[in-house]
Amino acid sequence: MEQTSVIHPIGTECLDKVLAIEAEALANMERPDLLRRNTVEMWHRCLSVPHLCLGAWVGEELAGFAVLFVPAKGDEEDLSMLLSQVDSKQYTSANFKICIVRPRWRGRHLQVLLGERLQQEAAKRGISLLCATASPYNQASVKSLIRLGYRHDHLLQKYGYERMLLYRFVDIDDTLQCQQ
Ligand SMILES: CC(C)(COP(=O)(O)OP(=O)(O)OC[C@H]1O[C@@H](n2cnc3c(N)ncnc32)[C@H](O)[C@@H]1OP(=O)(O)O)[C@@H](O)C(=O)NCCC(=O)NCCS
Repeated sequence: MEQTSVIHPIGTECLDKVLAIEAEALANMERPDLLRRNTVEMWHRCLSVPHLCLGAWVGEELAGFAVLFVPAKGDEEDLSMLLSQVDSKQYTSANFKICIVRPRWRGRHLQVLLGERLQQEAAKRGISLLCATASPYNQASVKSLIRLGYRHDHLLQKYGYERMLLYRFVDIDDTLQCQQ
């Protein structure tokens, strides 16, 4: 029988699990430029308010997680300032910062499931624009982001490598979904 995943917010109590999953993902990487290692301090931020980290659990195991990062005004993490196709000043923005799924749980579109839940949460918070970056060689991530409705803005150098900058408006459908 296929095991289903349960998604709920996780906090700093899961820091060790998150670091272990990041280390496992990096060790399994086909190319070193697909994923940037975050500092422990950054993970601590991601697991604390106002940011939101959703974990996908299969039984007792954390199978994967995704982070909605809500930058403060002027935060250098704010990707919306880099968009060329959108006047970001008109929007309240956040980043779909990272998603990692443990290798054994991949192939179930968990990034899409987690991303949809983050979009619902963004809608509830009045966030109107979401941004993300992905290596153009990270096909699993790019496919998932396109499936989530992200559009490609432009290529840029970020974290020492070429990255696609993507964005998505948070729309009425996301708001309706979160009322269900
Ligand atoms: C990116 C990641 C989270 C996606 O995990 P997932 O949700 O389980 O994704 P899936 O394995 O279901 O794959 C999603 C799609 O990409 C495709 N895909 C997966 N790996 C692929 C590859 N190496 N090459 C091409 N396509 C690939 C799948 O076939 C699927 O396509 P479909 O939508 O047409 O069915 C996972 O691969 C991961 O943790 N990678 C390491 C960390 C990372 O790079 N995170 C993203 C940057 S933040």
